[in-house]
Amino acid sequence: MTIEIIGTGRSIPPRRVSNQELADRIDTSDEWIRSHTGIGNRHIAEEGVAASDLGADAAREALLCAIDRGLVTEKTPEELALTVDLIVLSSATQDFFSHPATSCIVQHLLGAKNAAAMDITVACSGFIYGLETAAAMLKADFRRKRALVIGTEVLSRITNWDDRSNCILFGDGAGAVLIEKNDTSNQNAGQTGLLRTILGSDGSGWEYLILRRGGSRNPWKKGEVVEEVPAIAMNGQAVYNFAVGVITETLARIMKEENIALEDLALVIPHQANARIIQAAAKRLKIPEEKFYLNMEEYANTSSASIPIALDELNRSGKLKKGDLIITVGFGGGLTYGGNLIRW
Ligand code: COA
Repeated sequence: MTIEIIGTGRSIPPRRVSNQELADRIDTSDEWIRSHTGIGNRHIAEEGVAASDLGADAAREALLCAIDRGLVTEKTPEELALTVDLIVLSSATQDFFSHPATSCIVQHLLGAKNAAAMDITVACSGFIYGLETAAAMLKADFRRKRALVIGTEVLSRITNWDDRSNCILFGDGAGAVLIEKNDTSNQNAGQTGLLRTILGSDGSGWEYLILRRGGSRNPWKKGEVVEEVPAIAMNGQAVYNFAVGVITETLARIMKEENIALEDLALVIPHQANARIIQAAAKRLKIPEEKFYLNMEEYANTSSASIPIALDELNRSGKLKKGDLIITVGFGGGLTYGGNLIRW
């Protein structure tokens, strides 16, 4: 049985904000942001555009991709959407607090009437967790065949634009993949698709990346005057150290346990938080930096959307070839982390 990615898509808001544009408003500079993070720009959603809008657009692109490549018999995204059994969506910026799940709104926008829909909240590790969750649920029931895995974020809505150590990091966007289960009796064919996933968490760091207000621990109170938009609070140094550690460990473990030599690995697709985190992990692992695909220069950190956006860029540009061995690796609030080993 294989779980193959048969379509990829992304949705990037057209409004592009450069470092210089931020530097015109707050005390920072293009040079500082680039040298400390590798980020050059971010895209910001227009007012009124929510996570479900970007997520549904990215998912529609993933459906179209599978159709255009002749990997399905359905002829339109609407027709193909009806064959989707499951939507797993990750977002730190869901349309609504608590419920409804943003995946349900996406299900409605796509007309995916036969799909179950669920959200997961593991912040920036969301795509890695989502892919494993969807794959496991497809494998669990022979009637389920196709799933959409979506990461979608409008982080600009929970960013404190006056906090220079924080607001420079984030951007908006969505990425999606369509996965399909194939039952195969051919042993050799069993070597493609999602091969292995590592997932982990360290709840002792729950305060290091946090949106403090609104939940049952710290609810809004009647009559309360809100002075500031609730924003991401972060212990940058603690997150940095955690990130370098878990990226290093996760990659080393997958490569050792799955017996992967460096020359067999086509690409590592990391969560696009900070180029310095990737450089530090690459150095520890003695993996050349060129093996890591980086696009934070254009999009900044789009949390759970960053890996599927990168996958879509690579897929559409032809940089991923059939048979390529790739590893996704990421970390995020919770704290959470993980990695997927995929044979394209
Ligand atoms: N522009 C200019 N100066 C800035 C700045 C900015 N945007 N942000 C912070 N500074 C200043 C600080 O005020 C500090 O000045 P001081 O020495 O006079 O006090 C100096 O730069 C160093 O700040 P520091 O916070 O130590 O910088 P850093 O090298 O640790 O980099 C981060 C900060 C946020 C880039 C880094 O900690 C990081 O990337 N952490 C991981 C965050 C992350 O990835 N989060 C998302 C996880 S999914």
